[in-house]
Amino acid sequence: MIDFRALADKYKTPLYIYDLDYMNEQFNKLKEAFKGRKSIVAYAVKANSNLSVVQHFAKMGSGADCVSIGEVRRAFKAGIPAYKIIFSGVGKTDDEIREAIEKDILYINVESDAELGRVEMIAKELKKVSRISIRVNPNIDPKTHPYISTGLHDNKFGVDLNTAKRMYITANNSQHLDPVGIHFHIGSQLTELTPIRESAEIVADLVRSLSTIKIDLKFFDIGGGLGIKYDDETLIEPYEYAQAILGTLTALDLTILCEPGRFLTANAGYFVSKVLYEKQNGDKKFVVVDGAMNDLLRPSLYKAYHKIDVITKNDGEKRAVDIVGPVCESGDFFAKDYMLPELSHNDLVVINSAGAYGFGMGSNYNTRGRSAEVAVQNGEDRLIRRRETFDDLIALEEDYLD
Ligand code: LLP
Repeated sequence: MIDFRALADKYKTPLYIYDLDYMNEQFNKLKEAFKGRKSIVAYAVKANSNLSVVQHFAKMGSGADCVSIGEVRRAFKAGIPAYKIIFSGVGKTDDEIREAIEKDILYINVESDAELGRVEMIAKELKKVSRISIRVNPNIDPKTHPYISTGLHDNKFGVDLNTAKRMYITANNSQHLDPVGIHFHIGSQLTELTPIRESAEIVADLVRSLSTIKIDLKFFDIGGGLGIKYDDETLIEPYEYAQAILGTLTALDLTILCEPGRFLTANAGYFVSKVLYEKQNGDKKFVVVDGAMNDLLRPSLYKAYHKIDVITKNDGEKRAVDIVGPVCESGDFFAKDYMLPELSHNDLVVINSAGAYGFGMGSNYNTRGRSAEVAVQNGEDRLIRRRETFDDLIALEEDYLD
């Protein structure tokens, strides 16, 4: 059990707290589900890119799924070996591609015909061979929030099957490209297995058809996306997930690569704010806390639901309140019409499921420093990122004053 009050007193608020032991449990569940098959769990660094968190996964033997060269550098710094690092993303720059090739990562996940050309050109300049995979867009509706759906032709990600096939042939004929993998990722917070199975089938069929023209791939990269419980969602069990995918791969000798982010970190994280005030506008009641949308954007951006606990001595009747932050935006809220008892100054509001896409999507809007981050492991807590100060925020501007 995490002692939120003690940690809030020690490190102040707003504060992110991560339970590293929970991350181990989740990681082991996935590894276990795919055992009996060669597999790499490549943690999606974007979900929570704190170096200590990435290092924690490195120690478990995790790889890293990265979407910028910054994330690739984080993965290296955290001790993830090059042969377990992959680099995806629709808009890689030449410099990013060059560095990824020089660093000899497992593969670059190519998302367009044009990008394949750039990778080939840069590999040629470097006199190297770049291992690549191609991200296939299977045109399957993942049945999740439209903003986090990625596997439809309407979405910017990946390429259609015919283009993919053409690109594999080009890559196979190139002296500077080595097509080793195939990739799909249809969306995030997935709670239905059918779209995943259907996508895997489509992609596995492409692998078979490539094999008939002597293009034999080694890695079947199933992306991330496994959903978690924010509220009362019915979840896909890792075992069923693995079985659904493995079932499409009969007679294919492929290493599975999966790229979970949220599954590993979301429910390991809590965002803790302090109550500043309660206020009432007409019939509407608000609880104003010291954390804001710049710390945790998901409710504002996606109307995402996060379960909220409060730490208070009050045990009065609950009433519906909006929990809001100090930022000058009406969209700055963590929950609307949430049932909470009356709260007093300095009571704590603990936002659950904040370990993925929480801190990382934060900003300095309204010149607010980012919160501190704390890790808890085996009952011990330690600071893994200090709170940003005003000096941190202006550090890059100061030199330009008249
Ligand atoms: N692999 C690829 C290629 C991805 O695009 C993503 C997430 C992942 C893996 C990891 O997905 P996960 O296992 O975490 O679902 N900001 C949004 C989520 C954006 C996900 C983007 N891509 C949110 O707060 O819900």
